[in-house]
Amino acid sequence: MWNSNYSRREFIRKNSLTGLGAVIAMSPGSRLFANSGQDASVPAILGGPPARTKSWLNWPVWDTAADEQHILKVLRSGVWCRAGVAKSVVTEFEEKWAETLGAQRGLAVVNGTNSLIIALRMLNVGGGDEVIVTPYTFIATVSCILEVGAMPVFADVDPETFQISPEKIREKITPRTRAILPVHILGLPCDMPAIMDIARRYDLIVVEDACQAWLAEINNQKVGTFANAGCFSFQNSKNIPIGEGGAIVSDDHEFMDRCHSYHNTGRSYGQMADLVGGQYMIRGNNLRMTEYQAAIGLAQLKRLDSQTSIRSRNAEYLKNKISAIPGILPYKLYGNVTRAAFHLFPFRYKNEEFNGMPRSQFIRALNAEGVPASGGYSGNLNRMPYLKDAFQTKNYQLMYPREMLDFDSYVERNRTPANEQLADHEAVWFSQSMLLGTTSDMDDIYNAIEKIHKNSGRIIASL
Ligand SMILES: Cc1ncc(COP(=O)(O)O)c(C=O)c1O
Repeated sequence: MWNSNYSRREFIRKNSLTGLGAVIAMSPGSRLFANSGQDASVPAILGGPPARTKSWLNWPVWDTAADEQHILKVLRSGVWCRAGVAKSVVTEFEEKWAETLGAQRGLAVVNGTNSLIIALRMLNVGGGDEVIVTPYTFIATVSCILEVGAMPVFADVDPETFQISPEKIREKITPRTRAILPVHILGLPCDMPAIMDIARRYDLIVVEDACQAWLAEINNQKVGTFANAGCFSFQNSKNIPIGEGGAIVSDDHEFMDRCHSYHNTGRSYGQMADLVGGQYMIRGNNLRMTEYQAAIGLAQLKRLDSQTSIRSRNAEYLKNKISAIPGILPYKLYGNVTRAAFHLFPFRYKNEEFNGMPRSQFIRALNAEGVPASGGYSGNLNRMPYLKDAFQTKNYQLMYPREMLDFDSYVERNRTPANEQLADHEAVWFSQSMLLGTTSDMDDIYNAIEKIHKNSGRIIASL
């Protein structure tokens, strides 16, 4: 069951030669795979030949000659940490990242999770505050809210776009609402203009979780630059993979100085340093990116734009093709989206058009055809035990009235039925690295789905 980010990463990792081999080897089709003269119309899950036998791209990719030199240079310099270095590789990376996005400032940090925690903390979101968030996301989007002692409030999704619904956000606003944490989930931009309108109207802080949305745009403006702060991840499965890594961007110099100071154990920075001369002005943490990570980041950044264009082209092509298959409803983009990042390619699977075949069986059938797919997130992020665990801590008991911490009523208040239907029954994902292939690779995906659709009755009968 694909119900955690670990699974998503695992899914992406498995889209390699070895991974795909394992998938094929486990499928019933593998027993007959070597036979010649098979009836190509028989689904692989029933013993026919897979629609695709070629491997998919291994992720991450790098350029041995160019990238390794860059990293070796850092290694041989003996300067592996940014602390105390005037013009470090990390500084170069964070400045380039901010410039790429059109933001005035950038700060590289250890990972996306901590970029979100730092942003919320330095915007003084904390105990007693409610933060509105989507349930269709990776755990970090919610756990960062708990890490600063605030209360996550879930607003349901728009299943057509897979994104948080601005109307549902509005319904969740209370006198305690302090911030909105929208996510550009799967690399598709959420409706930032509508969300920023709500934020202005109710005087709310907004932190964009753009951890899956590098270079995505709304009206030619990069996501991550619409709100008080934008946060990014460069974890290994991401479109710009560093292993681990994250960044915060913003145009607010004072806020960015505080973020820098916080991530560097509270040492004063920028305007703060000018005022106080190198003292510890705020309580801090050590969340510094290393010089090696930044060297990899700079190398990866060089290919991000062209890869993003390839993903977009293939996504558009695939979307047009598979939307002709009954029961396959690809993602919709908002009208103002000028570019999407396609960390994942999502569509909704309607099993009534596949003779009632459960999604899990559809995914198994796709995998057997040589097309790795996943059902993505589970629909119960809004009621998993981690929330109860936070509510039982001393801090939460002190900060919130008892009624707010009653788990059953919390779960009731935070029901998100559209998300449940989407996440638990309908969503299917292909990984970003599959979208780096050719048109003929996209045709393989289409052919596999088509074949399963045509044979859904037979597959169901064999269950
Ligand atoms: C939407 C979202 N938010 C936050 C994160 C956290 O990023 P990291 O894994 O770099 O801590 C991720 C990473 O998977 C993510 O997908």
